[in-house]
Amino acid sequence: MAAKITVVGSINMDLVTISNKVPKMGETLLGQEFKTIPGGKGANQAVAAARLGADVRMVGCVGDDVFGSELKDHLNKQGVDVTDVEQVPGSTGTATILVSEGDNSIIVVPAANHQVTPEFVEKKRDAIAGSDFLLVQLEIPLESVQKAVSIAKENGVKVVLNPAPIQGLSEELLSQADYITPNEHELELLLKGRDEQFIKEKVIVTKGSKGLTFYKDGEEINVRSYKVDVIDTTGAGDSFNGGLAVGLGQGLSLKAACKFGNAVAALSTTKLGAQNGMPTKAEVEQFIAVNG
Ligand code: RIB
Ligand code: NA
Repeated sequence: MAAKITVVGSINMDLVTISNKVPKMGETLLGQEFKTIPGGKGANQAVAAARLGADVRMVGCVGDDVFGSELKDHLNKQGVDVTDVEQVPGSTGTATILVSEGDNSIIVVPAANHQVTPEFVEKKRDAIAGSDFLLVQLEIPLESVQKAVSIAKENGVKVVLNPAPIQGLSEELLSQADYITPNEHELELLLKGRDEQFIKEKVIVTKGSKGLTFYKDGEEINVRSYKVDVIDTTGAGDSFNGGLAVGLGQGLSLKAACKFGNAVAALSTTKLGAQNGMPTKAEVEQFIAVNG
């Protein structure tokens, strides 16, 4: 049976502008292309997992504007259960993204994502409690992330915490998560003033083209990443997290699940937009068969 995954997190419309150059403050440039593309770390992770065949439920909020309806409808079409996605008064979350030479810079305005309050999460307790995995990120209020993780722990649900965008996290949250998936920069901030050992055993550090590292019984284990023709790295981390959870849900070892996640992330970068390029399970297996 497919793993049951609940994602509690953000849903954004990505406003993507592609240009050859990034403007300096006060400068105006002519760009190449503009697109509105579904995004948000939570929704991206949900779609990544759904494409891979998992049974995915999203808990989150969109606004009562056009983006809100469009995003909820889109998630539904991607096979994500949207029973617990509510449309609330106000604007939908947006991410203004500049893509230039395969790299990006992003400004997120959470808007409706702020309304994913601890009370809102409490209302969705059953969805979390009934799943095998909970995926959380940090684009909703931290207290709400904590709430979701506490419900998961009370019910034996495994938690994957993606600490992005990075902010100060409590010892409680870090100790309750089963897997924490920072990139190198996020890890550095997480470790500041902390006993490294405290989180080392549950951390999977993603390092882009350099692969990833985790620790097992104190030993460092590295998993390489795949070389592909990169168009847009937006959402690669989210694709990895979705893939990781699906892999673990299938009973893969941590190392194999990481490899699977790396393949999902690599394929996701070959198309513009966070969710475009996210592969199906068959596509990942085919890719791993060819690329090792
Ligand atoms: O991780 C990528 C996502 O971060 C984008 O889709 C954007 O919405 C921002 O939240
Ligand atoms: Na992509």
